[in-house]
Amino acid sequence: MKKESRKVIIAGNWKMNMTPSAAKTAVARTAELTAGKDGCEVVLCVPFVDIIPAVEAARGTNVKIGAQNVHFEEKGAFTGEISADMLLETGAEYVIVGHSERRQYFGETDETVNKRTRAALSAGLKVILCLGEVLGERQSGITEEIVSMQTKLDLAGIPAEQMKTVVIAYEPVWAIGTGLTATPDQAEEVCALIRKVVADLYCDEIAEALTIQYGGSMNDGNAAELLSKIDVDGGLIGGASLVPEKFAKIVDAAQA
Ligand code: PGA
Repeated sequence: MKKESRKVIIAGNWKMNMTPSAAKTAVARTAELTAGKDGCEVVLCVPFVDIIPAVEAARGTNVKIGAQNVHFEEKGAFTGEISADMLLETGAEYVIVGHSERRQYFGETDETVNKRTRAALSAGLKVILCLGEVLGERQSGITEEIVSMQTKLDLAGIPAEQMKTVVIAYEPVWAIGTGLTATPDQAEEVCALIRKVVADLYCDEIAEALTIQYGGSMNDGNAAELLSKIDVDGGLIGGASLVPEKFAKIVDAAQA
């Protein structure tokens, strides 16, 4: 399969930004600016309380809404958590799992990332699974080992048919929110590695069809070059997704 036949996805990760009323305005503006840009799927992953107004504002547009985390149990005594069924009922279509900020600050491990991914997929959500090395790992020359291991552990036990609704976001942790971007060649090298690991775990067909995003200080200035790489099928965008005009320019860069 050629790169052109894979689904390109440009997803925003708003993190802990935007109140519900601000979300409504930002989604509407993003939808307006990206209308008719069918060369990629446009997704905004918003805070839990923003999902319902965001879904309302996105109705009838090409913008899809996602969450930023999900719990792995169906229901029960898990104060502060949100289940996959709850997300589905709000109209969320996607969920980010395993973001490095959750791994760094909230004790997320490959085991819990795997459990959340499995629960989300079984419920019918599409998962944007984030992984990537930290600076020390890159400097020690073990990026390949770390990323291969994360890919295998995070996907453990996920049946082949559910891989259709998995997106992997390669996010080198040293590039997130730092203004440092992986070079297009660094991004390509690791995205290609992830595709190879998925081919070994499943088969070539699944690996070739998989959307692999790059994330980490992607912006309207560097997106086109990153997205031109053969194994980079989109972006997961933090800071630049908060400004609809900037985010729309990244969507434009994905139209080629
Ligand atoms: P950034 O964030 O674009 O602000 O670096 C990316 C992410 O955390 O997904």
